[in-house]
Amino acid sequence: MNKDIIGLGLESSCDETAASIVKNGKVVLSNKIYTQIELHSEYSGVVPEIASRAHLEKINYLIEEALKEANIGFEDLDYVSATNRPGLVGSLLIALQSAKAISYVQKIPLIGINHLEAHLYAPFVEGNDLLFPYIGLLISGGNTVLYKVNDIDNMEVLGKTVDDAIGEAFDKVSKYLELGYPGGPIIEKMAKMATKREKLFPKLLTKKDDTRFSYSGLKTAVITYIKNNPDFERSELAYSFQETAFDLLLRRLFVTSRELGIKNIVVAGGVAANGRLKELLLKKKNRDENIMIPSLQLCTDNAAMVAGLGYQYYIREKFDDLSVDISSRLKR
Ligand code: KG4
Repeated sequence: MNKDIIGLGLESSCDETAASIVKNGKVVLSNKIYTQIELHSEYSGVVPEIASRAHLEKINYLIEEALKEANIGFEDLDYVSATNRPGLVGSLLIALQSAKAISYVQKIPLIGINHLEAHLYAPFVEGNDLLFPYIGLLISGGNTVLYKVNDIDNMEVLGKTVDDAIGEAFDKVSKYLELGYPGGPIIEKMAKMATKREKLFPKLLTKKDDTRFSYSGLKTAVITYIKNNPDFERSELAYSFQETAFDLLLRRLFVTSRELGIKNIVVAGGVAANGRLKELLLKKKNRDENIMIPSLQLCTDNAAMVAGLGYQYYIREKFDDLSVDISSRLKR
């Protein structure tokens, strides 16, 4: 009988510290996350210095908890993987240095993980079969990118935002309305309360062969609308903003995937947690298209996706040595 492969994943690239144990790349045995949202909320965005200190304070505790919940010890680990790119430099260092120490002491392979590749792997630690190629739409606070994922370390960019990321637009509109941070869940909740569902903003980037995304114009349109309509209804504004933002995502996603004839589609990242987006994706998809969206916990930053993708590197024997570094940008 083949032995199970047990991996530890660590994540600290932005404002979540996380540790997770995954078996054979597809069974999550534990998934511990500490979110720093409260620490940053008064600044309406992530403060790098606060983030790295909080990661350092929490990571050992989370690793111990993850091992305990999975009912294993360090000696049971076959590999350790950590996000080492892209992200905040001081934050990335915390997970990677911890992983290096564990790799050195336990004499197990170390694997540095690309955070964006990990997000697009998330549905595969939750029971979906991994099949290449697939279309990956990554939508978060820092990214709005459409990929063709050819293999674990081979993603082609098919289109991306030229300015704000979609999550950033949610956050900025929420900040402008003084509703709080992060803006996505707040705007989603508010949009549900809208009774009048009118179109308040123009459709974004309407040329069919355009592959770009752009959200800064929508943010400006929202601000202009508020200035010109002081008696505006917040829920109606939130609804229309959300619909306009998602319309562009859906058009780009389905035009591209259908042109390429690829039926497997992953939608991941913090904005994929949005219930209305899920509803629209399922409504617009064709019967033979398979849309995979991670569960809520795996949409936002987590370490299960890091341990899961780490397994794929492990079985391909693509390891890093102790000299591997972090990178704020995408380069290996
Ligand atoms: O992936 P993520 O946790 O962190 C990074 O940006 O790396 O994504 C956070 C982003 C924030 O911009 C947040 O407002 C957005 O995801 N978000 C949402 C929802 N939940 C989180 N946007 C729309 N609807 C949501 N329910």
